[in-house]
Amino acid sequence: MGASLDTLSSPSRHPASQQPASLLPTLPGSDYTSPEVFDRDQAAVFARSWICIGRADQVVTRGAFLRADVAGQDVFVVRGRDGRLRGFKNLCRHRGAVLCTDDGGTFGNAIRCTYHAWTYSLDGQLVTAPNMTDMPDLVKADHGLLGVRAEEWLGYVWVTIDAAAADLDQQMRPQLEARLGDPGTLDRYGISDLIVGHTITYDVASNWKSIAENFMECYHCATIHPELTAALPQFASGYGTVSGGVGAGAVLADDRAAFTLSGRAAHRRLPGLLDSDDRLFYGIVLRPNAFIILVSDHVLFFRADPMAAGHTRVVVDWLFHLDEVRRPGFDPADSVRIMDITNRQDFAACERCHAGMRSPDYRGVLVPAEHVICDFYDWYRQMTGAAA
Ligand code: FES
Ligand SMILES: [Fe+2]
Repeated sequence: MGASLDTLSSPSRHPASQQPASLLPTLPGSDYTSPEVFDRDQAAVFARSWICIGRADQVVTRGAFLRADVAGQDVFVVRGRDGRLRGFKNLCRHRGAVLCTDDGGTFGNAIRCTYHAWTYSLDGQLVTAPNMTDMPDLVKADHGLLGVRAEEWLGYVWVTIDAAAADLDQQMRPQLEARLGDPGTLDRYGISDLIVGHTITYDVASNWKSIAENFMECYHCATIHPELTAALPQFASGYGTVSGGVGAGAVLADDRAAFTLSGRAAHRRLPGLLDSDDRLFYGIVLRPNAFIILVSDHVLFFRADPMAAGHTRVVVDWLFHLDEVRRPGFDPADSVRIMDITNRQDFAACERCHAGMRSPDYRGVLVPAEHVICDFYDWYRQMTGAAA
């Protein structure tokens, strides 16, 4: 009685102008689902940023290489005779054959193209080619491999295909300071000295931005993460560590000795930590697509590789101190389980969102506990020129 036909047929309306001030709009659905936007993200974000491509301990010996796709470009890094890591486009300067086809391996003492045997030194110089005497005017220095900037940081290899990009430190340090306050906090964990105790790769049917956003907010924690909130009770409040403000770390539940599924202590404290670090959990986002979790006896490193608008491959490493991994009876399973369960809960939620975001009626909103995601949107719009 009294309700118009229009009201009855439209139980909820969503023009942005009618939203209460506490609800802020998400990006439009097409920013997550459209192949064209995915291509824009690749060009505007991933082709212009430093991107983690893998572990530095995969490229320790002379001639060892690691190959990756960065924003659609095939690149590799290789360990030189001088011990330095260098990055190159995976492209022979003769007629364009790729120089490596495996994701990793070794070139040996030189990089020899398998097509016509043009051969490059490990620092990318053209050294020799068959029938060189036929080409007395060939200037070798003009035909070396095309370089890509590469750095090692936190035990990982980072590259950028943008020759004009700011240094890696300039990309990462402001983010660390905004998250942790004191960047020395990260240093105490000695991440460069840790080694991989376990790795899981997750193929997620969701956009890379949804996965970053999910990592930033804890509004979902009470609903989907019973194991995580049992270990970290404050997460049930909707505020995690990323959304909790500068320097915020979450404290383990009183009945927990460590961040494990059982709650039992599993490993010794990382050697650089203070007593005050002992029961803390920190989440850190390193845009565009790396995330770190710090707990007192291990570190988790996430890399979210964008594969397509609706496909992100997330590689998660559980990192431990070398002495701990070498200790007889080392078993990472209890530490792995709590976060593997949590990851699967998160990624299933991201997949459900991705399915819904295809709807022309999608108009997502962020509640106050999620407003931290607006910082991510500001960065994203600045990188891509996407409309606010
Ligand atoms: S394409 Fe590499 S040597 Fe010809
Ligand atoms: Fe989560």
